[in-house]
Amino acid sequence: MCGVFGYVTDHDEALGPILVDAARRLTYRGYDSVGAATFRDGSIDLRKDEGKVEVVAERQNLAEMRGSRGIAQLRWATFGAPSQVNAQPHLDSDGRMAGAHNGNVVNNAELRAEFAAEGMTVRSENDGESCVHAVERYLRRGEPPLDAIRHAYGDLEGDYSFVIGLADDERLFAFKKGSGMVVGIGDGFTCVSSDLPSILPLTRRVVRPRDGEIVTLWADRVEVRSVETGEPVDRPAELVTESMDVAQKGGFAHFMAKEIHEQPQVARELLHLLDASEDVDPIVERLRDARNVYLVGCGTSYHAALLGSVYFAQLAGRVAVPVLAPQFIAQYAPAVGPDDVGVFVSQSGETKDVLNALGAAQGRGMTCFGLANVVGSALTRDTAACLPLGCGFEISVPATKTFTNEAVAFLYLAYRLAGLDTARLAGVPDLMETTIAAVDEPVRALASELRDRDDLYCLGYGATYPIALEGALKLKEVTYAHCEGMLSTEFKHGPLSAVTPGFPIIFVAGPTDTGLIVSGLNEVRVRGARTITIAPDDARLRANGDVLVPIPASDPQVSALLAVIPLQLLAYHTGVLRGFDPDFPRNLSKTLTVD
Ligand code: AGP
Repeated sequence: MCGVFGYVTDHDEALGPILVDAARRLTYRGYDSVGAATFRDGSIDLRKDEGKVEVVAERQNLAEMRGSRGIAQLRWATFGAPSQVNAQPHLDSDGRMAGAHNGNVVNNAELRAEFAAEGMTVRSENDGESCVHAVERYLRRGEPPLDAIRHAYGDLEGDYSFVIGLADDERLFAFKKGSGMVVGIGDGFTCVSSDLPSILPLTRRVVRPRDGEIVTLWADRVEVRSVETGEPVDRPAELVTESMDVAQKGGFAHFMAKEIHEQPQVARELLHLLDASEDVDPIVERLRDARNVYLVGCGTSYHAALLGSVYFAQLAGRVAVPVLAPQFIAQYAPAVGPDDVGVFVSQSGETKDVLNALGAAQGRGMTCFGLANVVGSALTRDTAACLPLGCGFEISVPATKTFTNEAVAFLYLAYRLAGLDTARLAGVPDLMETTIAAVDEPVRALASELRDRDDLYCLGYGATYPIALEGALKLKEVTYAHCEGMLSTEFKHGPLSAVTPGFPIIFVAGPTDTGLIVSGLNEVRVRGARTITIAPDDARLRANGDVLVPIPASDPQVSALLAVIPLQLLAYHTGVLRGFDPDFPRNLSKTLTVD
């Protein structure tokens, strides 16, 4: 994700405190490295390091930085591990230009090779540096800055926002493609940021550029132009009225709601990242040739592993054993060897149970890969290759967007294992958007209905079985009610005795499970249960159940991915109605680094 901020005035000013404060307010977007560049009398002062804002600000004495223009950046590592050299901003070859970005430039590896071959000085592995050299490439050809930036935009694939300034200039330039960016207009200054929280303490007058637009910032005005034509675009300034707290949460009341709504965007970014990843081919090859494959995780990440194993089998005929990390140690580690492959899945990349399992697997010579959201975490360092989830900072303790991207990553690997065209997945984020819009109202109504319930079941089958488990976990975490996730067909083998009149049972059904689910619905309804079905719209499901929350029609694998969204929202709204803070449920912690 990352966060970037730029500030322009027309006189020498103590910019350090402004840049540090802006970075602090963007901390929710990343925190593994921080940097600032100020432009003063034709020279650039660049200070950056690995670590959180407060630590780097003190270590590098950012407060003393002065100038008439400045750029600050907070990093959430994707390309290049967290380190001083990979921290942003970055300089061009001659140190006459500095820039920083948020988001991902997915053709970073190819670009870095091209820039080096063209004689530029490439210092880091970070894709933010590629943005700087992309501009440098066209400046070297004699183009004026605005044209150079327009052409650089065409070379940079991915989703990002970028801010850049030249030492001998009075302006900053910013452009965006698929990532957030807001421009602020103040009294005697202008500024630009990945998000509102760093702008609002300075000014409430903002301009919101769209994708494919370049903004030029002077101290007293801004100008928006189209990248394609170079022509000015009319983007009138607007006044922001929302509070700082709401702005920080993207206009939502809680981070959990914000993160649920971010899912289409992060899924889209992940698909771009995987398309460009050099690690995908070798991982797929090893998965194909392995004797046994294990998908290992805990909690939500285990549910993603379970869904991954369904995808691998259904799409590619590849059996992969999904296993909770501690049980891997007890049950499988004694039997694994160098011919086996494990994929260890973790949002944090630091969950002790997962790292213990990784250690046990490596002790037996097993090839271990990772899927992790926090690049630079132990899992990313200690595996043969680790695919990033590209979700940015997930603040809410209940995992939502990271579950979705873990599942998207598994679906992508299953497609590759099966020799299917991954371009077919490009429509999935749009389907997620449609789902969010379609289920909002029925889910709010359901939350009102279920708010006083202390016992629920959530049942699924095939690809929706992991979704039922994940939905139940979300409901437990956020509402503090007891909700048990289960294979739908197992319900008759015991739990059926719990059913009393009005007892709520949620069924999650895929497009090919209708017959089975219709039986399940009737089995519990004749005993008085109140049923809620989450599934693609189907007349038989409507006729045989009490409530149907319809999701868009899609194939069984994608349908499961969509079905988790109403469950996340149901947990969220029910928890809020019950008076709990969904972001920080009692007794829970985001990262469990203990046994
Ligand atoms: C999910 O909502 C929970 N916060 C929890 O189950 C979590 O998924 C689990 O602790 C594993 O965390 P990890 O993905 O960081 O390894």
